[in-house]
Amino acid sequence: MLTAKETRESFKAFFASKGHQIVPSAPMVIKGDPTLMFTNAGMNQFKDIILGNVPIKYPRIADSQKCLRVSGKHNDLEEVGHDTYHHTMFEMLGNWSFGDYFKKEAIGWAWEYLVDTLGLEPKRLYATVFEGSPAENLERDEEAAGYWEEFLPLDHILNGNKKDNFWEMGDTGPCGPCSEVHIDLRTDEERAAIPGAELINKDHPQVIEIWNLVFMQYNRLSDGSLVGLPAKVIDTGMGFERLCMAIQGKTSNYDTDVFQPIIQTIATKTGTRYGENKPQDIAMRVIADHIRTIAFSITDGQLPSNAKAGYVIRRILRRAVRYGYTFLNRREAFLYTLIPSLIGTMGDAYPELIAQQTLIEKVMKEEEESFLRTLETGIRLLDKKMEEAKAAGKTTVTGVDAFTLYDTYGFPLDLTELILRENQMDVDLEEFNAEMQKQKERARNAAAVETGDWVILKEGESRFVGYDLFECEAEILRYRKVKQKNKELYQLVFDQTPFYAEKGGQVGDSGLLIGEEEKINILDTKSENNLSVHLVSQLPKDVTATFTATVNKEKRLQSECNHTATHLLHEALRDVLGTHVEQKGSYVSPESLRFDFSHFQKVTDEELREVEKRVNRKIRENISLDENRCVPIKEAMELGAMALFGEKYGDEVRVIRFGSSVELCGGTHIPSTGMIGSMRIVSESSIAAGIRRIEAITAEGADDQYYAQQDMVREVRSMFNNIPNILPAIRKAIEENSGLRKQVEDFMKDKAAMMKEELLRRAVDHDGVKLVRFIGNAHAEVMKNIAFQIRGEINVPFILVAGTYEESKCSLMVMLSDSLIAQGLNAATLVKGASSLIQGGGGGQPHFATAGGKKPEGLADAVDKIIEEAGLKY
Ligand code: ALA
Repeated sequence: MLTAKETRESFKAFFASKGHQIVPSAPMVIKGDPTLMFTNAGMNQFKDIILGNVPIKYPRIADSQKCLRVSGKHNDLEEVGHDTYHHTMFEMLGNWSFGDYFKKEAIGWAWEYLVDTLGLEPKRLYATVFEGSPAENLERDEEAAGYWEEFLPLDHILNGNKKDNFWEMGDTGPCGPCSEVHIDLRTDEERAAIPGAELINKDHPQVIEIWNLVFMQYNRLSDGSLVGLPAKVIDTGMGFERLCMAIQGKTSNYDTDVFQPIIQTIATKTGTRYGENKPQDIAMRVIADHIRTIAFSITDGQLPSNAKAGYVIRRILRRAVRYGYTFLNRREAFLYTLIPSLIGTMGDAYPELIAQQTLIEKVMKEEEESFLRTLETGIRLLDKKMEEAKAAGKTTVTGVDAFTLYDTYGFPLDLTELILRENQMDVDLEEFNAEMQKQKERARNAAAVETGDWVILKEGESRFVGYDLFECEAEILRYRKVKQKNKELYQLVFDQTPFYAEKGGQVGDSGLLIGEEEKINILDTKSENNLSVHLVSQLPKDVTATFTATVNKEKRLQSECNHTATHLLHEALRDVLGTHVEQKGSYVSPESLRFDFSHFQKVTDEELREVEKRVNRKIRENISLDENRCVPIKEAMELGAMALFGEKYGDEVRVIRFGSSVELCGGTHIPSTGMIGSMRIVSESSIAAGIRRIEAITAEGADDQYYAQQDMVREVRSMFNNIPNILPAIRKAIEENSGLRKQVEDFMKDKAAMMKEELLRRAVDHDGVKLVRFIGNAHAEVMKNIAFQIRGEINVPFILVAGTYEESKCSLMVMLSDSLIAQGLNAATLVKGASSLIQGGGGGQPHFATAGGKKPEGLADAVDKIIEEAGLKY
């Protein structure tokens, strides 16, 4: 029986023997594709090849790909843990043909691998084929059915509908009919009683799909229509965990050696046993599944956060915490302690887990602790809401309450729904969505973009020439309309372009597109599936003309200074702080640079100074750029080039060297470091557990900062009569100031005491009520102090009404004894009733209220009005 590890290897070996190039898994977190946040299928990393945007290098490829299906078109989150064969993160074994072999070989090899190599029993296997769709003008896939007939009896070949047998990656993009292989893992008796054919695609936990062979031949456009793909593609995906279950003779993915070590660790740590069919089993499956997703997201550079992909990860983490809390009684952070066990099962195949273990654990622990703090409060609130609803005879909690839980307590909606479901209740989803919509409108996201389909003017590849040129001739290959922040813009793709498209942290270029009679501003350049897409606010009059594309050179050079400085900074940080420093993100614009890296405590001022000094030394050494565009990746790694986790690298990479700094990098750089002038660090902060951020400026930006500081020092010095040594003078001024402040406070206290005595002496009795009245120049705070002292000292019924002014500001104040409040008087009502006389407004509590105003002349009338309203006379 093969272990999981051996199974993975056997798949790769089988397809290597069929002439396939074996490639590594791409990162699970996707960059550079606006339609997808996470890799949800093995084919994602080949989308640009399938769309014809990049040339086909290997016509046959196979791999094992980390996938995540928790958002968008493919979302399995709700099932995870409750059944035994769905996962958030899973591995997909796949083989591809780009314009090479098609259905015959794909089906033949699938059979050969499953039956001849792995020894799965043919009688347990079924294949489905696409039944056709008249609405889309598509016929039954007779071709695939014919090939299956060579291996399977007719009653093991079943028709499938569009939902199951026409595979689409998303709402748009490459797609085609598919053939799925299903396996029936039930016992002989069970199979004799009900034939497997009746249970295919019926959610039976032991009759499941294991492999999907997609025959891609279409591209789905945004209007829903299908057009042919440039070259036919085979795209297959086999669920690795399910295959392990079949091979290992188990009835649950979680019983295989992929998950058992983690589940057993959870069981030991929580004093529970797995496999007794209790809610605890579900919780253990949820946790064993979710920690894989969280750990791999972190290694691929996606930390939990409050937006987009980061929020998806945060939600998954919180779902795991909540299951641990409710069913396994975990009151303290605990998921992070399972990472060593995960590394035990997956560390060999995915060494990034080992390399980043400390970071994963730190981030998870902090996230868990912070969520546990709000979880209890939120659960109490939800309990209360459920009781209220039940008391009112309802089984639905309002959408507003669910939204409060989401917004204030960080409860993802699925978590609230889960708790409600466990209590046979649900949430008013429509109302929740309306609340969500309102919030979205409030914070209308600048990134909301609607895109039309490409208008193709010319087929062909787009070349980037911007490493060598700032300007070149360009023809438009394709364009499309986009809507961004309700503005209509256009995106253009040229046959060649000097414009750098935003990637690897460096912002995209802006500049001009110059035609015979017009100049069009290129506002920005983005990278999408390996195409450089230029954003313009209007289309050229003649889109088929030849243009000159010119980059804004000044801005580009500023970005380049910042980019090169980032490399020098990276190296200096590793030298000063240690080689545990790893890049976790960077942002390079013409204005500044930002560099995020792993480091587990604050960088001290001394360390920062040392880092800055080292960078500036390298700048002064005026080291020349040594750029190599096509270095085999192995050779680059041997050079000690710093590669990033979570980045997708080809077999050949671009290596950027500035002396001892060697990085794999696709960005643009200045010819020699001297052009940077200098670099100044402007801030150092923490952005997440174990991740620090440095912001810095270079070149003119650094000069400007120096000038601003010089001006400030000059101004400060002039405030101190330009004495040469201002620091002692400033210190002395601060000391004097605090001495004087203390004197003033003492003085105010004395004054207040005197005023209080005077007020009490002048107070009049009115039917047993003491009336204290004051109108005069005084600080409102002093008066308030006096009012509260009086309240604490006298125990007869009293009312204090004061009108104070200071320059053009004035204020009214009323203080009442409790006995008067008991008689129905209210200080806030009294103040409100009179505040218009001083052109002001205010309020307070029944015993004390104030109002500020702008008309001191009205104070006397206001005070008298209050006294009158209170039913007293002065
Ligand atoms: N792309 C196909 C799938 O994900 C293989 O099922």
